[in-house]
Amino acid sequence: MASLKIHFMAVLASFTAITTAVPTSHYDTKCPITLDGRVPINATLKTFDTDASPFNPDFTKGQNLTWSQILKLPAVAPSKFDLPIHSKAVEVTISDASIFVPGGGTQQLGFRRAGLLMGNGSDATNVGVKTFHWSVKQDLNAKMNLTHEYMNVWHEANDYASNHFSINAGIMLEQDKPTDSNVTTTGLAKNLWKILDRKNNVIWTTRIDWDVWQNFAVTLDYEKNTLQVYYSREYDSLHPVTALLSQDNSGGGQMQIGLLKKPTETTSVVYDGYQESGIYEGQIYGGVFIEDSAGGCISA
Ligand SMILES: *[C@@H]1O[C@H](CO)[C@@H](O)[C@H](O)[C@H]1NC(C)=O
Ligand SMILES: *[C@@H]1O[C@H](CO)[C@@H](O)[C@H](O)[C@H]1NC(C)=O
Ligand SMILES: *[C@@H]1O[C@H](CO)[C@@H](O)[C@H](O)[C@H]1NC(C)=O
Ligand SMILES: *[C@@H]1O[C@H](CO)[C@@H](O)[C@H](O)[C@H]1NC(C)=O
Ligand SMILES: *[C@@H]1O[C@H](CO)[C@@H](O)[C@H](O)[C@H]1NC(C)=O
Repeated sequence: MASLKIHFMAVLASFTAITTAVPTSHYDTKCPITLDGRVPINATLKTFDTDASPFNPDFTKGQNLTWSQILKLPAVAPSKFDLPIHSKAVEVTISDASIFVPGGGTQQLGFRRAGLLMGNGSDATNVGVKTFHWSVKQDLNAKMNLTHEYMNVWHEANDYASNHFSINAGIMLEQDKPTDSNVTTTGLAKNLWKILDRKNNVIWTTRIDWDVWQNFAVTLDYEKNTLQVYYSREYDSLHPVTALLSQDNSGGGQMQIGLLKKPTETTSVVYDGYQESGIYEGQIYGGVFIEDSAGGCISA
């Protein structure tokens, strides 16, 4: 116990150089975890190329790239749900080589993408009531170009025709405009995070913070067909930021965490359009997990 505590303090001390804001208090999750995407403290980049990874080692990434080439393990203070220090941040990056080719398909030349994938679309995260957690932090040396639209975290339905939810950044493409004509357009400013429902309605927005961790959670109730969004900054407790909204949550899906940069001047979005060359962009993630929210349980 004593040696554990010394180890904890030593790790903490090494972060103090970066920030003094890391609290020593605990943020244990409080509901059963269905899938855990928190990166163990002893994981190396090579871990992500193997089945020991919390994520799928094969998807979704550039055709000729390995995860150990795509990811970084940045020296940043842990996010809220990585404390007490048992897991750490991982950064997903994209470059000109981040061109995905789906099985039997053609190169998705419109996109630059890399997304860590959790689950298989027909697992326990698709039944009952589940909450999808992630925290995100910006790398000032690898910023997004918000002239483009990005999809950063999403739960893609198994037929690939929609997402039960997504969080997007940048200027939204005309092709992604909401199918609900009642949606407001106030959420479309490029420097806002935009949370979209299954019909691409913007259901909540907040500014992209360039300095601190931003913590998000989305509860999908597969029985009552509702979703609800939670949010906080740094080490604050999550609080609901939308009402309980109705939507069709059927069809099964998978959570993906990373960056999908869409082109400008595009027709198909996936196969054509403009992408500048020489890019290097990243997003730092932490505290990724999916928990069982039966009975209203949510780790906040
Ligand atoms: C990390 O530690 C755990 C627990 O001791 C062990 O099971 C796992 O194999 C280790 N992983 C790596 C990549 O060393
Ligand atoms: C991957 O490598 C093959 C063989 O060199 C090449 O034909 C293909 O275009 C590469 N894919 C990408 C996305 O660069
Ligand atoms: C998906 O994962 C679950 C849980 O691990 C497993 O029971 C199920 O058989 C898997 N389904 C497929 C299609 O691989
Ligand atoms: C738009 O709002 C009106 C009034 O609340 C409602 O009757 C209508 O069903 C809504 N349209 C859509 C597409 O949701
Ligand atoms: C952002 O993207 C646009 C469109 O691809 C490009 O014209 C512009 O040069 C980029 N800006 C920066 C700062 O990279």
